[in-house]
Amino acid sequence: MLRMSDRGLELARDKMQDAGVAPAAVDVFSRFYRLLEEGASGLVREDDVDPLTDLPRHADLEVEPGRAAEALSKTAIIKLNGGLGTSMGMDRAKSLLEVRRTADGEALSFLDVIVRQVRAARERTGARLPLVLMNSFRTQDDTLAALAGYDDLAVDGLPLDFLQNREPKLRADTLEPVEWPADPSLEWCPPGHGDLYPALHAGGVVRALLDAGFRYACVSNSDNLGAAPDADLAAWFADSGAPYAAEMCLKTPADVKGGQLVVRRSDGRIIQRETAQTHPDDMDVSLDPTRHRYFHTNNLWFDLEALAAELERTGGVLELPLIRNTKTVDPTDPESPEVVQIESAMGAAVAVFEGATAIEVGRERFLPVKKTSDLLLLRSDVYELTDDFRLVARTDAPLVQLSGTYKTISAFDARFPSGPPSLRGASGLRVDGDWTFGADVTARGDAVLPEPDGGAGSVPDGATITGSGLD
Ligand code: UTP
Repeated sequence: MLRMSDRGLELARDKMQDAGVAPAAVDVFSRFYRLLEEGASGLVREDDVDPLTDLPRHADLEVEPGRAAEALSKTAIIKLNGGLGTSMGMDRAKSLLEVRRTADGEALSFLDVIVRQVRAARERTGARLPLVLMNSFRTQDDTLAALAGYDDLAVDGLPLDFLQNREPKLRADTLEPVEWPADPSLEWCPPGHGDLYPALHAGGVVRALLDAGFRYACVSNSDNLGAAPDADLAAWFADSGAPYAAEMCLKTPADVKGGQLVVRRSDGRIIQRETAQTHPDDMDVSLDPTRHRYFHTNNLWFDLEALAAELERTGGVLELPLIRNTKTVDPTDPESPEVVQIESAMGAAVAVFEGATAIEVGRERFLPVKKTSDLLLLRSDVYELTDDFRLVARTDAPLVQLSGTYKTISAFDARFPSGPPSLRGASGLRVDGDWTFGADVTARGDAVLPEPDGGAGSVPDGATITGSGLD
């Protein structure tokens, strides 16, 4: 007699095989399914690790410009673009959202800005600098259609993207593949950005880049416009001789982040420790910014030779820790049934690469958009788009807190029909309840909008919001 979860795995494997999912991806999924079933946590105790300390700093690098350009000429840019932005109620690529307008009013998506950053770096340094996206089954068509307008983008016959795998979402109650006849495509999800390795392997991308004369790759999230091509970092990485490097930022008191890199005492290797791998007794010390001073930006550098060797050795199946993600089957409908998605993180591969290293970078290389409040800030006048399409903060970024009403991108956009308020003069903006903003609104100081009477309120055109509400 099969146990309930044996049946779940069998059904999931059948579903993947019937859908033509690559056998290696079915094996990766099966390994994770077993870990999920065992409740494996892979605890990493504080006594067994040391914090990362005294990293070299991007800001202190002194690189001769010729050397920097040479290193960049051997570098490819890979952007993770397979996620679906479910935290913002999306089921497509976040990178297609509008993030800025140019001085003449042209709307630019994250993807448009990424392409322009790459073009600007090419023009500045003469590097070929290929841009390769990792897409998923839900992001590929839209993304390639958006890129079709850029006929100067492709380099030497290299692909503009490669496709990651897909796996069934599991019913949270039975761990069996969920059925959702209303939209069967929602029965599937991409398996997190740790899928980079099997997907690169299956797509033959690393080999193609090496054959075209590239040696290094800088990989980052497509929702992080801070991770622009950087020739100094490329030179530092090339000169380090390391197989792998992680860009880290110094924590501020506002950064209470769980996942971190630590040094394993037994062999001196850098490993990633997720919140789920932290023992409850170690939680306080793991979050203490005076001991664990850095957080991980998810901007990574790979020596493509070392990566190719690792992918060949493992068939693309790196033994990464499992991340159990609970969501709803329809990300746009919080009332739809709960599902478990089996995921893994790209940065967990650090432990696989002997000699992996890390560097401290400034906050400007970490501008992720996880919530609509992050998007409001990036769209606002706190940031300026430079000539080389980097987003640079003009002041300290205020802390933006929007009520649950603004959680999904559609609800958010509907409440800022004339664009974001001016946030340059604000140290914070907290919006309680449901407010729709008019044009030319300004937030000042520690601005607060308390819950409106009668359920919903409007902020008039030209209004100012201060610490005591609407002026
Ligand atoms: P996030 O952690 O923000 O995930 O991804 P997400 O999927 O975009 O958003 P949520 O969690 O559903 O709200 C960080 C980066 O990793 C990419 C995303 O596209 C984003 O650039 N990613 C994530 C992938 O490429 N594939 C995945 O399976 C997951």
